[in-house]
Amino acid sequence: MTLKNRIFLEALKRNNNEANIPVWLLRQAGRYLPEYMKIRSEYSDFFQMIKKPDVCKELTLQPLRRYPLDAAITFTDILTIPDAMGVPVEFIAGKGPVFADSIEKNHLLKLNPDGALKKLEYVFEATALIKANIDVPLIGFTGSPWTLFVYLFYGESPKSHDELNSYLGLHSQKAHSYLEQLTEIIQDYVQAQIAAGADCIQIFDSWGGLLDEKYEELSLTYINQIASSIETNIPVILYTRDKLIDDIVNLTSIKCFNLDTSDNIDNHIDKDITIQGNFDPKNFHADNEVLQEMAQTVWTKYKDKQNYVFNLGSGLTPDVNPEKVEYFLNQLSSFRS
Ligand code: CP3
Repeated sequence: MTLKNRIFLEALKRNNNEANIPVWLLRQAGRYLPEYMKIRSEYSDFFQMIKKPDVCKELTLQPLRRYPLDAAITFTDILTIPDAMGVPVEFIAGKGPVFADSIEKNHLLKLNPDGALKKLEYVFEATALIKANIDVPLIGFTGSPWTLFVYLFYGESPKSHDELNSYLGLHSQKAHSYLEQLTEIIQDYVQAQIAAGADCIQIFDSWGGLLDEKYEELSLTYINQIASSIETNIPVILYTRDKLIDDIVNLTSIKCFNLDTSDNIDNHIDKDITIQGNFDPKNFHADNEVLQEMAQTVWTKYKDKQNYVFNLGSGLTPDVNPEKVEYFLNQLSSFRS
């Protein structure tokens, strides 16, 4: 299928020359959509569901049917890699991911790279199937080595970082060896997604904000290795929570950034980088009148920018009403000629 819609990719290359705003949303598919919950209820286990490429295709397409979006994102998860390396993960309602083992409990935890890429084949099959069924660009994605390491360390979403800090102090070499192993498989994982049809790659460093002075050493260095292993015509977008772009931009070749809700677009929009994100999904709780004004403000500020993509600063959560999202996005797209 030919790409009918290129404005998203053009913006990622800082080359969107028309008055318009490309749009996609972090976690645009998922639990806030009743049509997702319907399919989800057929599976006791999330991984059992996402290992079916035709289901991934359907879940990827659901938000595209509702809203005027300019990109699709493969329906899968960043935790596919620990699962494929022999550490199974379950998602428990109200608690999030729970791993069968963790580095905190078991300092000898081994990641098994043998056959791991083969076990991830379902992601590449889904990518190819989705690509054959959409006419907007497809975003492939991965977690960063650091973020996957943080999940593997705690065996769940981290609450404090004391234990992690003391491990890093005592076992820094061991941490680097996990990070190297993760980097290696992630490079193959994104390469295979690109081969299957992904038009760009987003790297989620959701826990990058846990690091201060060691951010470059423990996270960005590995992200940079992944980014430089990707061919230059495939844009790479970096999402880092609780870190300012100014702390990163001069230390990487990456040119596209998904801002969280704490940074400020207007500090960056006139630089030689592409900015997406920053919009707080809590805004979708506002009245339609306020949403209409917000859409107008976004349009007026950014319609003529060559390097702007509308997106959120964090993912959509189950408390958001999809009809509000639809109202806002319809307003925003109504300004396009
Ligand atoms: O449209 C989409 O973007 C959906 C695809 C997607 C999922 N996870 C599906 C999912 C994407 C892009 C992700 C990324 C992801 N996963 C991140 C990075 C983005 C971010 O929010 O920081 C992270 C940190 C994860 C890890 C993860 N996966 C957690 C913490 C959880 C539990 C709860 C939650 O939703 O946050 C998941 C499970 C998960 N991944 C669900 C979905 C739809 C819900 C699982 C369910 O239905 O039981």
